[in-house]
Amino acid sequence: DDGYDLVVVANRLPVDHTVQPDGTTTWRRAPGGLVTAIAPLMEADEGAWVGWAGAADVEHEPFDASGIRCVPVTLSAGEVERYYEGFSNDTLWPLYHDVIAPPKYHRAWWDTYQEVNERFARAAADVAAPGGVVWVQDYQLQLVPAILRRLRPDLRIGFFNHIPFPPVELFAQLPWRSQVLEGLLGADVVGFQRTADAANFLRAVRRLTARTTRRHHVVVPDADGGTREVRAGAFPISIDASSFDALARTPEVQARAREIRHELGDPEVIMLGVDRLDYTKGIRHRIKAFGELVEDGTVDVSSVTLVQVASPSRENVGAYMQLREEVEGLVGRINGEVADFGHTAVHYMHHSYPAEEMAALCCAADVMLVTSLRDGMNLVAKEYVAARSDESGVLVLSEFTGAADELARGALLCNPHDIDGLKATMMRAASMPRREMRTRMRRLRKQVLENDVALWSRTFLDVVRGTSTHADTSL
Ligand code: G6P
Repeated sequence: DDGYDLVVVANRLPVDHTVQPDGTTTWRRAPGGLVTAIAPLMEADEGAWVGWAGAADVEHEPFDASGIRCVPVTLSAGEVERYYEGFSNDTLWPLYHDVIAPPKYHRAWWDTYQEVNERFARAAADVAAPGGVVWVQDYQLQLVPAILRRLRPDLRIGFFNHIPFPPVELFAQLPWRSQVLEGLLGADVVGFQRTADAANFLRAVRRLTARTTRRHHVVVPDADGGTREVRAGAFPISIDASSFDALARTPEVQARAREIRHELGDPEVIMLGVDRLDYTKGIRHRIKAFGELVEDGTVDVSSVTLVQVASPSRENVGAYMQLREEVEGLVGRINGEVADFGHTAVHYMHHSYPAEEMAALCCAADVMLVTSLRDGMNLVAKEYVAARSDESGVLVLSEFTGAADELARGALLCNPHDIDGLKATMMRAASMPRREMRTRMRRLRKQVLENDVALWSRTFLDVVRGTSTHADTSL
């Protein structure tokens, strides 16, 4: 046994850890974009996945779960606080999302981020086969590529950033900006969601390091005194579109969709929002716009309903606690003012649901509202499209999502900061003629079904393996 040819390194393992009442541990396939994206690939390629089980101090030997070899990395409670909640989600996350919330810069968080990145890199170095490919995921692990190259110069290393890469004017705030760039430059390929993100990265390298940059790559010294190239480009992620389409067509999901409509009082129009409860998602802007439509009489709550699913996320981080207070206060205020016996303006659910229920919600909803203030891609937009095999339904999509680069011709684009504009777009969506709806949804479905996650991962890995030189998708 000389190791695995393909090793994925991500902050989270693709399975959730649950302890049964009798003390035994079971692992369940976790929900979420990244997991659905890469799991099928790992099953096919007999790869290994290095990641954290999602709870502090859980120590486990490597194990197999739903066809994937899982290699757990242990984090102490203090490391969860400083590396995950702190540096990843209270420093990098807001900084990379256009400082929508103020990023916090704490040296102790940075120290732990370095230590934990080192641990992930060592775990990957231990299991990768000679000459194998290691694919590092996302902002939590930006130092892994360079550490891994030092430990294992024989490997091909890819890094993919799932979230935006900010303009250098913002990135420059980071006290450890050069270390982060050098960490990423350990890779052979650094992938981003949008061409704009790749351009921001190359500009940051040019401005903040001594490296030579070209249009699609950076020149860096290699271990033998020569040079090597680090490619940077856009690889927009997607979903397993045909599976979601098939799930949404099942009689069970169709029946559940009818049931949801009925439970909501059979309104004429159901508008839907589905997000992690995150300040980047523009949930407040969306609810505010809807609330104004109700209050100014444009919308009658007996015929139009907003369903907002907000799945709990990062609940120990202050900015998320504050957002929850604000969103729930806003929902309570609107409902208190306009709701009537049997009618509620906003149906707010602070839960996460299984894929079947999500598909049913997508089928039940006439309008999907994706109003992020900044979003790397946004896979909910693509799931909605994949679920609409009847070619009806309208996607309202923020200009500030990666998805807008691909879906602009079928969606109704919006600027969520412009509340009046957002209200107008929501009304246009609610009353769109069937013909226009069908034309738009057909375009959306073609884009989403033809560019699925299998194509995304194949394209990225081909470039990492050097069997293709694809740089930027032509958008
Ligand atoms: C985003 C990030 C992922 C992250 C996910 C859920 O999609 O790009 O890296 O896993 O959010 O957040 P969490 O902090 O719960 O892992």
